[in-house]
Amino acid sequence: MSFSERLLAWWERHGRHDLPWQTDRSPYRVWLSEIMLQQTQVATAKPYFERFTQRFPELEDLARAEIDEVLALWSGLGYYARARNLHRSAELCLERHDGSLPEQAEALQALPGVGRSTANAILAQAWDRRAPILDGNVKRVLARHRAIAGWPGRSSVEKLLWQAAEELTPDNRAADYTQAIMDLGATVCRPRNPDCRRCPVAEDCRARIEGRTEELPGRRPK
Ligand code: ADE
Repeated sequence: MSFSERLLAWWERHGRHDLPWQTDRSPYRVWLSEIMLQQTQVATAKPYFERFTQRFPELEDLARAEIDEVLALWSGLGYYARARNLHRSAELCLERHDGSLPEQAEALQALPGVGRSTANAILAQAWDRRAPILDGNVKRVLARHRAIAGWPGRSSVEKLLWQAAEELTPDNRAADYTQAIMDLGATVCRPRNPDCRRCPVAEDCRARIEGRTEELPGRRPK
């Protein structure tokens, strides 16, 4: 079985399927969840997501809100630039895209707070488009599986990681695959003490085979 087939089979049984942005999916809800999850863990973000979407059920509700109310609902989540970017992005979607999120990578990346990986996570989860992602969790999974050494903050290392992400992302089931590889990074391929016995891709993981899981991905040079 290929990397993605093994990962998807694992995710069917052991992944997360009941997150509020999965069970009631829309581009707006996917985007909001991705911004919240950029620097915040799922368990922390969940109640904020629920409150936020109750107050602002649609993108247009957010666009027309006062920034102070947006910041108040964000209070406690940290990294408040995310809340300002969210509000500004909603306004831009109203101005440029008839109040919807755009369905193109370039237009998504033009929104403040949306980089290449976040744009692709939105394309994959909202529209099931094949789009590789590379957030912190995925960098760790791929750096280990392919034994890509060096600090991922270095552009040469990041380039190799994007190449791996491109190669491993399957043509079908983009949304499921995206969630699966993030879940693997969060629950099995943890920064410390990765649970390789439960990993569906341990068999050909170079870091595991070579006993290097603790040293990969490489740390920031001092
Ligand atoms: N981190 C970023 N996006 C995520 C998602 N959809 N599920 C879990 N963790 C994430």
